[in-house]
Amino acid sequence: MPEKQSTQVVKHGDVTQRVGVEVIRARGVDVEKLIKMLIANAAAEFASTYYYYTILRMHLAGHEDYKEICEDARLEDRAHWELIVPRIYELGGELPNDLKAFHDQAGCQAAKLPEPPTTVNILTMLLESERCAIRSWIAICDMTFGKDPRTYDLASRILNEEIEHEAWFIELLAHERDGKSIPSGHFRRGEPGHAPYSKNASFYNP
Ligand SMILES: [Fe+2]
Ligand SMILES: [Fe+2]
Repeated sequence: MPEKQSTQVVKHGDVTQRVGVEVIRARGVDVEKLIKMLIANAAAEFASTYYYYTILRMHLAGHEDYKEICEDARLEDRAHWELIVPRIYELGGELPNDLKAFHDQAGCQAAKLPEPPTTVNILTMLLESERCAIRSWIAICDMTFGKDPRTYDLASRILNEEIEHEAWFIELLAHERDGKSIPSGHFRRGEPGHAPYSKNASFYNP
């Protein structure tokens, strides 16, 4: 029985090991690999919210409607960062002490403005960034499904929003570049960066 083995691994009163980790290891999760992947995803969310989407959004000057959508996507990446970082520590991992090393581990492309920074180029970058996020978070879902319900829950909540973000930028890019209507079907967020799936609003952020 996996439960018995993991209880035996962690001795009474031992603070150097975690039952919360051993139970998922016993179910087949490669915990060290999972921590690495979560750090890569956290780095991508960090770069995205605090830098990438910030400068890309600023350069959408004059397109107040695009900026508003971009702001929701940007702030929701901040919610993703805050949702996932505690999980890295619970698993026994930690953020790299060196910020540059952390940035270099990001699971998505380095963050910079496109050249030239036209609206179409910026929307294309935003769209591809959301696609990278979808690929990265579904990889976490695949790895944890049926084995690590907590990480799976957090990753799938983030994935919900990344899929919405892709649809938003498909809509905006199709309109701006091709003059085509491909509705994302989304309703306006209640407030900027509402993050309906990834913020623990009801019990964490009163
Ligand atoms: Fe994100
Ligand atoms: Fe996103």
